[in-house]
Amino acid sequence: MIDLQLTDKTHDEGRQGEALVIDAPAKRNGRKLYIESYGCQMNFADSEIVASILLDQGFETTGDYKEADVVFINTCSIRENAEQRVRNRLSQFGVEKRRNPKLIVGVLGCMAERLKSKFLEEEKLVDVVVGPDAYRDLPQLIGQVEDGQKAINVLLSREETYADISPVRLNGNGITAFISIMRGCDNMCSFCVVPFTRGRERSRDPHSILAEAQDLFDKGYKEVTLLGQNVDSYKWKGADAAENAEIEVNFAQLLEKVALISPEIRIRFSTSHPKDITDEVLYTIAKYDNICNYIHLPVQSGSSRVLDLMNRTYTREWYINRIDAIRNIIPDCAISSDIIAGFCTETEEEHQETLTMMDYVGYDFAFTFSYSERPGTLAARKLEDDIPDEVKRRRLSEILLKQQEWSLYRLQQNVGKTLRILVEGPSKKSDKDYCGRTDQNAMVVFPASEEIKAGQYLNVFIERCTSATLLGRIAD
Ligand code: SAH
Ligand code: SF4
Ligand code: F3S
Repeated sequence: MIDLQLTDKTHDEGRQGEALVIDAPAKRNGRKLYIESYGCQMNFADSEIVASILLDQGFETTGDYKEADVVFINTCSIRENAEQRVRNRLSQFGVEKRRNPKLIVGVLGCMAERLKSKFLEEEKLVDVVVGPDAYRDLPQLIGQVEDGQKAINVLLSREETYADISPVRLNGNGITAFISIMRGCDNMCSFCVVPFTRGRERSRDPHSILAEAQDLFDKGYKEVTLLGQNVDSYKWKGADAAENAEIEVNFAQLLEKVALISPEIRIRFSTSHPKDITDEVLYTIAKYDNICNYIHLPVQSGSSRVLDLMNRTYTREWYINRIDAIRNIIPDCAISSDIIAGFCTETEEEHQETLTMMDYVGYDFAFTFSYSERPGTLAARKLEDDIPDEVKRRRLSEILLKQQEWSLYRLQQNVGKTLRILVEGPSKKSDKDYCGRTDQNAMVVFPASEEIKAGQYLNVFIERCTSATLLGRIAD
């Protein structure tokens, strides 16, 4: 049983922790690892690295923490409620720990990095705290705990990309996978904790990215999602053995190289930053059929003054210019966004500007959040979190309502059309149905048929839709 799901959520702490389970490795040590992940896709991809490191040590994985020897929780700090969810889960693990004092409980990821040794003081049941750049140290840290000590490594690195570690694919469908192409973030959006929890931005060697994508394709995977906090600033400089020279690779060039592996493999990517997305990237998407026409381009706010306070380094006009470029260069491109309601000092008029921006773009999808002050960020230090909760909630609900209307409208445009999808497997709700995504990332559900297999491309006639899903039948 393997149950990491690919969602179109790039960074949603609302995803409940999902347990990752994989087949047992060849050499076992009889010990079991349970790992649960929260937060963005990058965190889920990291859990695959962690599992790979521990499998190498002879561990096997389990989906039941009650039978585990080691329980890891890979955490997210992006909003306060994300951290609260982790703390609640830790208290459940605490009950188990009291029953089985030998159980090792580890906190990984962004909360570990943010709270460091404070975690060991605050949560007595936690044995080991490991930041996102220190996973290679896990075997040694586990050893330390076995010797009766608490263990911690939260060093951030300027180089670590885990390029040589082959992630254990925990995604059950065998069709879609994530590939981390960079780590960290050098932007300083004033609301955001990520630069503090993930460290400096660094790009991964393109050779290792291409080798990973090729390997996935050889194993039957049909879709890869290239991951980074700001993929458009991907930049790698180094020696190229084949060309016997120094080469420089930017994101557009990387996209092209992955696309050239085979026309049969689809490429997605996330997240794009409005200040960095270039026309070169857009032309590359337009040029290759297998690079999906779907861009996640978070706007955060429609007001230039608020964007400035957020330190996003673009204005409303700049963002609109990027949207116009997408519409011109890739006419049928789906666009999604992240939006924050009630950032410090946001006025009613500025909130309206967010709503009019939504109408200008007509997003296919959006992740919407109430501003949550994060300790240590620029906003926490310099700005007052002065929008009352009920005002944030009301603005958020207006944003949500508008998005629902646009999502429904965008999906409705597909009704009556025949669309090509990549079949991912049985639908979540019923075994009688199959599901798959369109190029534009819309989920399509249709009655299964014996000849249909996961991983094949299929034409589906769209009969109707809900606000989240297209419903159809296999086209003749
Ligand atoms: N690197 C991505 C976003 C990563 S965080 C980008 O720049 O777009 C994912 C989303 O969480 C952000 O886009 C933002 O909308 C939201 N977010 C981040 N910090 C937040 C905070 N303090 N309060 C509310 N939402 C926040
Ligand atoms: Fe956070 Fe901004 Fe970096 Fe995105 S680009 S991770 S919002 S600091
Ligand atoms: Fe959360 Fe860290 Fe990702 S804070 S959104 S898990 S980078």
